[in-house]
Amino acid sequence: MSGAGTGAVDWTDRLLEVDVGAVAHGGHCVARHEGRVVFVRHALPGERVRAVVTEDGGGSFCRADAVAVLHESPDRVEPACAWAGPGGCGGCDWQHATPAAQRGLKATVVAEQLARLAGVERDVVVEELPGGALDWRTRMRMAVTDDGRPGLRAHRSHEVLPVGDCPIAAPGALLPVLEREWTPTAEVEIVRDAAGEVHATELFEGARHPELGSGTAHERAAGRSWALPPEAFWQVHPHAADAVVDAVLEGVGELTPGACAWDLYGGAGLIAAPLAGRVGDGGRVVLVENDPAATAAAGECLADLPAVQVVRGRVEKVLGGLPGPPDVIVADPPRKGLGRGLAGELAQRGAARIVLVACDPAALARDVAALAEHGYRLEGLRAFDAFPMTHHVECVATLLAS
Ligand SMILES: C[S@@+](CC[C@H](N)C(=O)[O-])C[C@H]1O[C@@H](n2cnc3c(N)ncnc32)[C@H](O)[C@@H]1O
Repeated sequence: MSGAGTGAVDWTDRLLEVDVGAVAHGGHCVARHEGRVVFVRHALPGERVRAVVTEDGGGSFCRADAVAVLHESPDRVEPACAWAGPGGCGGCDWQHATPAAQRGLKATVVAEQLARLAGVERDVVVEELPGGALDWRTRMRMAVTDDGRPGLRAHRSHEVLPVGDCPIAAPGALLPVLEREWTPTAEVEIVRDAAGEVHATELFEGARHPELGSGTAHERAAGRSWALPPEAFWQVHPHAADAVVDAVLEGVGELTPGACAWDLYGGAGLIAAPLAGRVGDGGRVVLVENDPAATAAAGECLADLPAVQVVRGRVEKVLGGLPGPPDVIVADPPRKGLGRGLAGELAQRGAARIVLVACDPAALARDVAALAEHGYRLEGLRAFDAFPMTHHVECVATLLAS
């Protein structure tokens, strides 16, 4: 067999002994073997491991799972979950590292992405959120086996593992879901809200079927209450919403009464609500969001804030018609980030500050680079361990116009 398109021998299933180098974005570390880069999961920097190749990427790289540790990092611990590790659940990447080491790895990744993609050198600290590394996940999607049991997918695979439970899930989130049978091969979206109610929706053949819960998730953040449909976006970690709001307000800084702020990708108004406090009743906060479930929730939950105007639509489509000019722009786009074109368009609006909320450090770094082309420079950066045990990290970056 050949590695993809190279004509070389396929390394899949080959056992390699490698020295593990630096962490890389995506939940793995970099090793080298016979001139090729090997992305090794379940290893830590400084370790020597025996690793089995799980995927030959063709060309210069392949992926591998560490199956034996020959020289162990002092940061290594026994995973809290029996399904973590080679061939196991794809949900967690760093169960084998102490929580402090996980934050260090994520800080390295954020700093490396900023340096490589944006040319910005910066020491990064990933801040711990309260509650520890387990029992935090209030939103998750389960897959369903061919015989109707809910489970979680193996890493980079369609295989469904009948996990029985998940130690990073919020207490009580999975029990009512695991007790039931579901349509074979469906998926189940689970929300455990701040009131402790579990909402579960079965997704099958393009349709959503609410199966458990009242259908209204109750959440609290920024000193306010929200009631929103479970499918509307809300932060997954119970302390992330407050952490993000604090960091965004720090980035926004003081606003004069009557100022105009844009809250792009505003969801149910988590950020728009405290921004309204900053601009006062004579000011304006323009929340743009394309999910009707989220805009309906924002309209109801923020009805007492006359400064907030909710615009339903895609940011890239409605941007030209938004009231402005904005003094500050907050943008919290999905994982792929703003992209170069939209970043350029935002920069044209002349805001003194742009605050970006990002869950992918690579996308953040690309957006920082794109905004730098228009004179914005990175001022503040906060990063939060809002997804312990996984490689994900939530960042809030403040850019100032020069
Ligand atoms: C990461 S969430 C942030 C939500 C909100 N800022 C919060 O913290 O709760 C991104 C939001 O952008 C919305 N969205 C995705 N693509 C969009 C687009 N092109 N235009 C407007 N909103 C979009 C999603 O529905 C989602 O609510």
